[in-house]
Amino acid sequence: MLRISLLRVSLPCSSSPIFSLSQSHLHSKLRPQAMAYTTSSQNNNKLLFRQLFEKESSTYTYLLADVSHPDKPALLIDPVDKTVERDLTLVKELGLKLIYAMNTHVHADHVTGTGLIKTKVPGVKSVISKVSNSKADVLIEADDKIRFGDLFLEVRPTPGHTLGCITYVTGDGPDQPQPRMAFTGDALLIRGCGRTDFQGGSSLQLYKSVHSQIFTLPKDTLIYPAHDYKGFTVSTVGEEMLYNPRLTKDEEGFKNIMENLNLSYPKMIDIAVPANMVCGLQDLAAMPVEATSN
Ligand SMILES: [Fe+2]
Repeated sequence: MLRISLLRVSLPCSSSPIFSLSQSHLHSKLRPQAMAYTTSSQNNNKLLFRQLFEKESSTYTYLLADVSHPDKPALLIDPVDKTVERDLTLVKELGLKLIYAMNTHVHADHVTGTGLIKTKVPGVKSVISKVSNSKADVLIEADDKIRFGDLFLEVRPTPGHTLGCITYVTGDGPDQPQPRMAFTGDALLIRGCGRTDFQGGSSLQLYKSVHSQIFTLPKDTLIYPAHDYKGFTVSTVGEEMLYNPRLTKDEEGFKNIMENLNLSYPKMIDIAVPANMVCGLQDLAAMPVEATSN
């Protein structure tokens, strides 16, 4: 098992997870069922969290950092090439030290920003799953932990949209953010999911992935997807288990839906996938102009 451990310092957390958990439990008992899984701010003053948006591909990029650590180590999940300048400016303004630029999968709708980030910030390591067959500095597998300061992300394989899809989940423990946060890529979107007709996709596999790797998390786990096309920003496991129009169906019903979506050919796929297969290591100068500037 690969362990990525760079900066580990234990610092006290001023908020008490036990107190807050019992408080939210009390509240959830008083609320009607449909209101039981509300989103809330992180009960962990170590974590700095930002959700960023790229409007052309409707992609979310997530910035996470351990600000209780003297170095303020940070990581970016699913950066987009077009918004790298914005992301790196924010990292700088917040005084963070970017250590990882990670992807949930080989994207077909945009070019990853990891290559560009590596040219601009020496020392940053690109991260993607080993199963994706892509190039990156760090190739991750099931149960690996990605550590940044005293915080970590768990690696949960969630294939089905692509063969190498990963869901990153914040650590389980009293000194980790509560409620937990799951960065689901395209495996689980808010009230939807990624298509399964390209890149080694399989509707059956996606159904199993979501049910075994995401819906088994605590119901108040926050869902942060790679995209949203309707203006949603966050959901919860409990909410998607109740209201996701695809994944609340049985396996056969889900398969039927996915096989009859009649979606058009992804317009960026022929540019984005070859670039993203060399995730973080692409020779930017040798790439077609469209791949870096569009
Ligand atoms: Fe995707």
